[in-house]
Amino acid sequence: MFDDESVKPFTASPEEIEPEKNIIATYYVEGRNISPLEAGVKIAAEESIGTWTEITTATDWCVRNLAAKVYDCRNDNESTGVVKIAYPDELFDVETGGIPNILSIVAGNLFGMSSLRNVRLLDLQFPSEVVRLFKGPKFGIDGIRKLVGTLESRRPHLGTIIKPKVGLNPKDTAAVAYEAAMGGVDFIKDDETLTNQRFCPLADRITSVMEALDRVRSETGRTVLYSPDITTETHRVLDLADVALEHGAPALMVDVIPSGFSAVRALAEDPSINVPVHVHRCMHAVMTRNPKHGISMMVVAKLVRMAGGDQLHTGTVAGKMGEKSKDAMNDIIRINEFMRGGFHGLKTTFPVASGGVHPGIAAANVELLGRDLVIQAGGGIHGHPDGTRAGAIAMRQSIDAALEGVPVEEYSKDHEELRIALQKWGSKFSDFD
Ligand code: 3PG
Repeated sequence: MFDDESVKPFTASPEEIEPEKNIIATYYVEGRNISPLEAGVKIAAEESIGTWTEITTATDWCVRNLAAKVYDCRNDNESTGVVKIAYPDELFDVETGGIPNILSIVAGNLFGMSSLRNVRLLDLQFPSEVVRLFKGPKFGIDGIRKLVGTLESRRPHLGTIIKPKVGLNPKDTAAVAYEAAMGGVDFIKDDETLTNQRFCPLADRITSVMEALDRVRSETGRTVLYSPDITTETHRVLDLADVALEHGAPALMVDVIPSGFSAVRALAEDPSINVPVHVHRCMHAVMTRNPKHGISMMVVAKLVRMAGGDQLHTGTVAGKMGEKSKDAMNDIIRINEFMRGGFHGLKTTFPVASGGVHPGIAAANVELLGRDLVIQAGGGIHGHPDGTRAGAIAMRQSIDAALEGVPVEEYSKDHEELRIALQKWGSKFSDFD
């Protein structure tokens, strides 16, 4: 397979590749009149020391040490397949360049090459030495559970997104937060489009919501986290974090794709920030949705965990953003397992299932995605016919049904809020094939 002289600098056999000395990228490739191996070689060349033509300037040293190598190639047919490319560690300076440096190589020019009809970065595998350059999450699942008081029960956390997405003033936002917290949510977040708009300035909003949550604490003894959205230009995220923390925010939220992985990292690695970082993934579908092109959610999840996200939206198996195929569902399960598992000593990241969740399907999400999960609902709580508090109670009842192994329909017979929620939304799970 790798005998051709012209591809030799950019190919190797699997035995020649040391995982601890390379960042390994797995790509789905679809070439234009070229084989998957040729497609892989073009990527390896372009992203290391080659270009579109032979050049006379490459030294022996750079060919020997820096050429990326295709070392595994599985053909699905003559033009499509999956290739593994090893990028030698010397090609990077992650200490200086961080995640941008990694991405500009493993996910750089290759996406625009005309010889490729489609290309998707499926996975990345890192040497420990690279991962250890990152501090990762400060809290992780256990740290957040400790704050909320669920370390022992290890039940799923219930989150809500204040709705409407935008438009409430600080006082009304706080009133909704109070009702949700009294109904049993553990976590409240702003929506991904609200930051510091005139109708709801960040500082006033945090002050008002925290007054409401302090009241909840004195009335019930429960700690409910609130993460205001501080999504902004990467270089301004620490300024907004300062504002948020000065006004008592017990967590922070950032939209990772619009603000950048570096914004998450700046928050997580700043020693003065001692609250969890909730990571929203809006805009990810630009990269993750097309199964033949782009970047997989697994890669996004790995980078967010390295950057230090304590919680990350990874998708629902039922809901408005719910996955429609068993493969996609298994992908979410795999991603969530990665986030809860070992990763070169970094703390875990709490998976968040959010988007169109309501009490009729919360249980199904918990059953499939497990207990170490933040299950979140906006419309599914604030759209309850009896209001926000009843919506939160119904969500907790749905979660309890899953934990007790009782179907929601049956559980609803003696749980009024759930029964009313099911009347409105039903409990149809999804349309899996
Ligand atoms: C989110 O931030 O995940 C969405 O705003 C969810 O809102 P929804 O529960 O109303 O779909």
